[in-house]
Amino acid sequence: MTAQATNPGDPRTAGHTLAGAGGFVRSGKVRDLFEVGDRLLLVASDRLSAFDVVLPTPIPDKGRVLTGISRFWFDRTSDILPNHLLGTSPDDLPAGFTDDAGKSELRGRMMLCRRARVLPVEVIVRGYVAGSGWKDYRRTGAICGTKLPDGLRESDRLPEPIFTPSTKAEVGHDENIGFDAMVDLVGADLSERVRDLALALYRRGAEIAQRAGILLADTKFELGTALDTGELMLIDEILTPDSSRFWDAAVYEPGRAQASFDKQFVRDWLEAGSWDKTYPGPELPAEIVAGTRARYAAAFERITGASFERYLKEDVVAP
Ligand SMILES: Nc1ncnc2c1ncn2[C@@H]1O[C@H](COP(=O)(O)OP(=O)(O)O)[C@@H](O)[C@H]1O
Ligand SMILES: [Mg+2]
Repeated sequence: MTAQATNPGDPRTAGHTLAGAGGFVRSGKVRDLFEVGDRLLLVASDRLSAFDVVLPTPIPDKGRVLTGISRFWFDRTSDILPNHLLGTSPDDLPAGFTDDAGKSELRGRMMLCRRARVLPVEVIVRGYVAGSGWKDYRRTGAICGTKLPDGLRESDRLPEPIFTPSTKAEVGHDENIGFDAMVDLVGADLSERVRDLALALYRRGAEIAQRAGILLADTKFELGTALDTGELMLIDEILTPDSSRFWDAAVYEPGRAQASFDKQFVRDWLEAGSWDKTYPGPELPAEIVAGTRARYAAAFERITGASFERYLKEDVVAP
């Protein structure tokens, strides 16, 4: 839920995809963006950011995990809100965009998208007390201005999911803002629409995840308006381990922090070392890379019910 300055645009950063392809626009922490005519090509790299720093060591296929999970969710939420996705096959790209090696690099990690004017707020929904929400609650009895009952413990489920927008910081941590501040930024009508949609999307996500034994503690959506029609739509990634806190329902125990499904493993390794959590981060040893990759692949399979092997081979999200 934060954006920050490491060096995501630096080509020496780990896991860059398609270096040198035409139409390159910019890189985020994880994705590389290309312009393809009036469409946008989003390529999820294998970069991993931890404590807001992009690490020098990529996690093989992590970008494919994120893209496959987003594909699954876009399909299951399009009745609530349309999304930006137009195509996922390298064959959907104009002839000559890239060669065969480029195409196989793109397989499973690309999304050809409608371009959006990105809303200047992070659309966050929380169903449990965690992270900055827990800190806020302990201090104020509220999360981002939403008053909550007394006596909640860390990781407790909230009586109702709450909408807690934040700013999109270009540099530094995103800042939580109240609903009123969001109204000042984008107007009352749009704020109310976005809030209601975000809560509906969260409920859908939480319900499907729960069937897979996963608790959706909180998540961040990105919304935008289509450049051509002005239509409101979901953009970027959705309900992935990078944009959400997923907890294993089998070991859920309120009263303490919960291990996150996928990244905890690498976080624990980093915490045990001497790194001060500022750029640059340390190289990851092979067993930490392998363990992290296995956890991301497991998250894909738990959430989608599909085989990751098959996703890699056939580029389909299917059992
Ligand atoms: N359909 C879209 N139109 C325009 N911008 C988009 C669209 N989908 C995603 N984006 C932007 O692309 C970038 C994705 O890169 P990412 O690495 O996820 O960035 P970040 O470091 O901000 O998380 C984000 O800035 C996101 O707002
Ligand atoms: Mg992002």
